[in-house]
Amino acid sequence: MAVSHSAIVILGASGDLAKRKLIPALATLYEQGEIDETNVIIGTGRTEYSPEAFRSRFDVPEDFARLLHYYVGMEGLKKYVDGKGTFEQIIIFMALPPSVYAQRARELAAEGFGAETRIIIEKPFGYDYQSARKLNEELHAVYDESQIFRIDHYLAKEAVQNILVFRFANNLFHPIWSSAAIDSIQISAYETIGVEDRGDYFDGSGIIRDMAQNHLMQLLCLMTMEAPVSLDAEEIRAQKVNVLKTISIDSVHRYQYEGYRSERGVKPDSTTETFAEIKLHIDNFRWTGVPIYIRVGKALDRKGTEIGIQLKPLPHLLFNQEGRVQPNRVIFKIQPAEGIILDLASKTPGSEVRLARTTMKFCYEDEFDVEIPEAYQKLLLDALRGNKTLFVSAEETEMSWRKYADFLDHGEIELYKPGHPPPTKLGCEWIDFERYGSACD
Ligand code: BG6
Repeated sequence: MAVSHSAIVILGASGDLAKRKLIPALATLYEQGEIDETNVIIGTGRTEYSPEAFRSRFDVPEDFARLLHYYVGMEGLKKYVDGKGTFEQIIIFMALPPSVYAQRARELAAEGFGAETRIIIEKPFGYDYQSARKLNEELHAVYDESQIFRIDHYLAKEAVQNILVFRFANNLFHPIWSSAAIDSIQISAYETIGVEDRGDYFDGSGIIRDMAQNHLMQLLCLMTMEAPVSLDAEEIRAQKVNVLKTISIDSVHRYQYEGYRSERGVKPDSTTETFAEIKLHIDNFRWTGVPIYIRVGKALDRKGTEIGIQLKPLPHLLFNQEGRVQPNRVIFKIQPAEGIILDLASKTPGSEVRLARTTMKFCYEDEFDVEIPEAYQKLLLDALRGNKTLFVSAEETEMSWRKYADFLDHGEIELYKPGHPPPTKLGCEWIDFERYGSACD
């Protein structure tokens, strides 16, 4: 059923996010019949726009554009929204700097946005454990946790959502998913771009805060959590929190690409890391003894996010008498070309029994022949439907920050050449994810 009678309010609607992502995503949802003409979309901002001028900023069909309205500032906003109709719910997207989230939430509450309201915010949620806690406390002072939707856009990626299905809908994997058969887990998130025009933000953050503490911890939680008792968002979140509680970070190494300090917005003596290596472990019944390695960074040789599950080696018996059979791997290609690759041993053709490594590939796009929806499309629709599965809870963010508390901004910074990841210090054998090519070859 299409979402109806909702007011969608975008704070900061004169900005880039509304133009590039939010309004196009809503236009697609409208086009697909997911939201109908009884909804209104109200942009607010400091810039003065007539309704026509506001609509003309977006390249959207005319019937959808009729849903768009604009209001300057916050004062009187509730009255303005009420003047547009009777709404069952009001969804407020803060396309604003995180530093003003708490203040705006107070203003919204003072304006009279109450129990019918849902607030959507995007990371960063705080800068460390203390600030994340403070932000949550300030938000909770005016809105209940059930009304707050925190976006981690990695959770909206199709391949990320498939992790739970893959794990809990295939009995093939269920019995091996523990330290009994798994040797180690590796997560790699490489980008070729540097900080580009985000130097100012990034320099106050670094790759650990920007990617590891949030996106990659979410990936790890989905990969290692216990089966929830149901698919209810709260049950899934509870299992993720249980993993977070038992995570211990063992070591972090920080690196910075040469030339970073001359990027716009970056301090000339900056010690912010643009690449990090992290080793951690999970102390619970399932995972004790399985090391987990993370490599994440910018200005590298390739773009790709992968999770590699390395299985334990076979005993030196039968085909493996000389220890030459490589352990199996399961590779989750989160992006680009979403898919899953199994690395197996196979017999080569011929009369002799010779073994070779081979792969079985599952490519999302080829298999289902559909265009994978844009993250914001999915997230906005879920928020409108009140489904919180893809949103992060206060407890998850706080717990994750807590784990990194002793490692933020700590330790030496070493330089690396753009386009070349630094040599590893973790003493593990990194999976050459490049070797597997795309899941969609
Ligand atoms: C964002 C980070 O959250 O994720 C960026 O702030 C990063 O620095 C981006 O580039 C990566 O997202 P994706 O979807 O391209 O992997």
